[in-house]
Amino acid sequence: MRILKDLFERNRMWAERLKRSDPDFFSKLARQQSPEYLWIGCSDSRVPANEIVDMLPGAIFVHRNIANVVNHSDLNCLSVIQYAVEVLRVKHIIVCGHYGCGGIRAAMEEMDHGLIDNWLQSVREIYRRHQDRIDLLGDEQERINLLCELNVAAQAANVCRSTVVQRAWRSGQPLAVHGWIYDIRDGILKDLDVCVTNPDEISRLLGI
Ligand code: CO
Repeated sequence: MRILKDLFERNRMWAERLKRSDPDFFSKLARQQSPEYLWIGCSDSRVPANEIVDMLPGAIFVHRNIANVVNHSDLNCLSVIQYAVEVLRVKHIIVCGHYGCGGIRAAMEEMDHGLIDNWLQSVREIYRRHQDRIDLLGDEQERINLLCELNVAAQAANVCRSTVVQRAWRSGQPLAVHGWIYDIRDGILKDLDVCVTNPDEISRLLGI
């Protein structure tokens, strides 16, 4: 109960498996990390960044929070973006939402969810901005899923407008911001056709 033995056993077997396929795997990683991707995703346990794109440790720098929100006052998220862009010099920032997101559902509901309602304020604003279009859909799941997509685009726009990304683009650093959505029902990623590589392309973000 106190030591979660099962997880330590799994960890040892996992590390051994990786070492069998590449004996230097951990010693190489210990010297440096040079991921090409920053992943900003939802905390949902069904949406683990590395597994979804079948990549090993060292390949993706990851930030996750409820409903993959990028707020310009969130020091945690902004620090991750700054370190990824300025120190690791990632080439791609991926904002990845997922259909059926509980955070997005909560942002659409009138009821009181406690503290989380504060976190979801910016999602609620996106809902208000697009409410006419969203409420036209008869099915609740479809309404949630449309807001899941619109939220990805809006949060990707927030990444693009961040001072760190703006500065990187001004200095000519190659950096692309992508908006993707993951379907927990079949494990498949969908590109929302959101790819911004310079400030002039921000308007391409759908629904913004
Ligand atoms: Co979610």
